[in-house]
Amino acid sequence: MALLDWSDALVLGNEPMDDTHREFVALLNALGEGPEESALERLDAFIAHTEAHFEQENQWMREGNFPMLHCHSQEHDGVLMVMREVRKYYLEGKPQLVQVLANEMGVWFTQHAATMDAMLASYLANPSQGAPACQPEGEACATVHS
Ligand SMILES: [Fe+2]
Ligand SMILES: [Fe+2]
Repeated sequence: MALLDWSDALVLGNEPMDDTHREFVALLNALGEGPEESALERLDAFIAHTEAHFEQENQWMREGNFPMLHCHSQEHDGVLMVMREVRKYYLEGKPQLVQVLANEMGVWFTQHAATMDAMLASYLANPSQGAPACQPEGEACATVHS
């Protein structure tokens, strides 16, 4: 069974972003399902995809002056750091963490796509509507209109 099934709930209406997210889900499922012998290869493919995926979104945010650039890109950075840590642990003889990563990334992606990526897709479709700005943790977001 796939870790994460692609569904309409994951479609954000931004075609390049949706295509990238379909690829993310496919590579995530491959990471969670493939044979142990190819785990490193699948992990590297997943990390390479994620680096390009996040950089593309970061670029859209920079170019569009997206108000949530910092919190969104910081979350990307944190996730990439975890992926690289898991790769390091794999090489140190802890392959079981690859499966843990795949499981956790399924949960994380569903949440991230429904919140941060959804706000970005909506902003890119209509920047004049504004978007919430990053706030210190625990404070509500204030909508910023341009
Ligand atoms: Fe994304
Ligand atoms: Fe994102």
